[in-house]
Amino acid sequence: MTNAALDPILDSILAIRDLHAWYGESHVLHGIGLDVPEGQVVTLLGRNGAGKSTTLKSVMGIVPRRRGSIRLGGAETIGLRPFHIARHGVAFCPEDRGIYATLDVKEHLELPTRVGDHGLSTEQVLDLFPHLRERLNSPGTKLSGGEQQMLAIGRTLRTGARLLLLDEPLRRAGAQHRGTDRRHYSPPQGAGIHHPAGGAEPALRHGCGRPVLSDRPRPGGGAL
Ligand SMILES: Nc1ncnc2c1ncn2[C@@H]1O[C@H](COP(=O)(O)OP(=O)(O)OP(=O)(O)O)[C@@H](O)[C@H]1O
Ligand SMILES: [Mg+2]
Repeated sequence: MTNAALDPILDSILAIRDLHAWYGESHVLHGIGLDVPEGQVVTLLGRNGAGKSTTLKSVMGIVPRRRGSIRLGGAETIGLRPFHIARHGVAFCPEDRGIYATLDVKEHLELPTRVGDHGLSTEQVLDLFPHLRERLNSPGTKLSGGEQQMLAIGRTLRTGARLLLLDEPLRRAGAQHRGTDRRHYSPPQGAGIHHPAGGAEPALRHGCGRPVLSDRPRPGGGAL
C-alpha cells in the first residue's frame, strides 16, 4: 500500500493521499493512499512496525509531524489540531484503550463529547456489551482486559462519530466477543477502519470487512 495514485472515491468518508509521517527524524509513513467508503469496514494488515497504528494516529492528528492529504467527508484536515479533527466526526480507540481508574463504567460511557448525531445511548451500548451492564459501578481499571476493550469501543460508539478508528480491537476479545459481528466495528451511520492483532485470517473470519495490505518490509525499517 504505497501510493497515492488512487482514483478518488466520491462517497469516501476518509480519503488519504500521499501521506507521510515522522517521529522525530524517523520517517515512518512514505506516501500512503487509502479510501474508506461510506458504510464499509476497512482492515489494515501488515507486519509489526509497518505503520498501521501510525496511520490511524495520523488521521486523528496525534503524530508529531505529517504531510499529505487526509480528507474527512470531503474536508481537508491535514493542517487541523486533533480536537478540530474530531469535530469532523471521527473517534479513535487507541491500542492502550485509555481507560481510567478514577471513573466507573457508567461514567466512562457518559463522558464522551458528541461529534455527530447518531451516537448510541448508554443503554444501547450496554445492550451490545451485556458484560458491561453487570460491571456498571466498577472502576475502569478493575475490569478484565476484554471488558476494558468493550468499554473503549462502546465509548467511541457514544460519540456519534461517522468514522471509527480502532487499533487492535480484537486483541483481548474472547471467543464470544470475536464471534459477535461487525456491528461493533461500524458506527450506526458511517464507516470504520482498524488494525487487528492476529493477522488476516481471524480478522476476515470474524467479518472485519475489506482488508488493505501493507507493503513488503523495507530494508532498514519503514512503513506502509
Ligand atoms: N512514539 C514513537 N516514537 C518513535 N517511533 C515510533 C513511535 N511509535 C511508533 N514508532 C515507530 O514507527 C514505526 C511504525 O510503528 P506503528 O506503531 O505504526 O506500527 P504497527 O504497524 O502499528 O505495528 P504493530 O503491528 O506492532 O502494532 C515502528 O518502526 C515504530 O518503532
Ligand atoms: Mg500497532
